[in-house]
Amino acid sequence: MNTTDIQAVPAGLNTATTVRAFYALVPDDAIRMQFVTLARDVARRSRGRAIIGDHVHLTLAFLGDVAISMLPSLRKIGDGLPPVGSVLDFDVLGAWRASGVAWIAPSVVPQALLDLHATLRDALAGAGIVLDARPFRPHITLARRCVQPHPRAQCAPIRWPVKRLSLVGSELRPEGPVYSELATWELT
Ligand code: 2AM
Repeated sequence: MNTTDIQAVPAGLNTATTVRAFYALVPDDAIRMQFVTLARDVARRSRGRAIIGDHVHLTLAFLGDVAISMLPSLRKIGDGLPPVGSVLDFDVLGAWRASGVAWIAPSVVPQALLDLHATLRDALAGAGIVLDARPFRPHITLARRCVQPHPRAQCAPIRWPVKRLSLVGSELRPEGPVYSELATWELT
């Protein structure tokens, strides 16, 4: 898979020895805006906080804190993945009450996405990074700190033809996380 290195070492990481990182599917601006519009509505109805546009993503693999020295290996792992996208129809709204998170998910998860996740998980395990054992539940977080999370319900679908995978660095700040793309790959 072709990679685009965004920055060798992103600004802000120059003095750090670790980075909180995850691989995620990231939509283009038009699709991002559809999720943002929905997120604002869901947040209003759930009395929560909508995510901001820059945060719309579907996490494929959350790594936690990894050594900066691992970044070349993580880019190489991305390079080795099959560049296979999929078309996702996000048509179910739900919430995790314990964490106050409202999300949207596809009711049908294409095999290509499951395969991409499994290949990535295995490649990470080969590099000594073992993911959370919980099953992969593809979703996009729409709102956090929801006081009145709404029950699970079907919704008008948002279709996302997935074309981009990114390795994302997340810097936790008091005002919320700041994401930076560490590498990105095109999917077809
Ligand atoms: P979430 O959207 O359901 O919160 C960056 O934090 C991304 O990694 C988020 O999309 C988050 O999922 C996901 N993630 C998965 N496991 C995580 C964990 N243990 N801690 C924080 N974020 C996690």
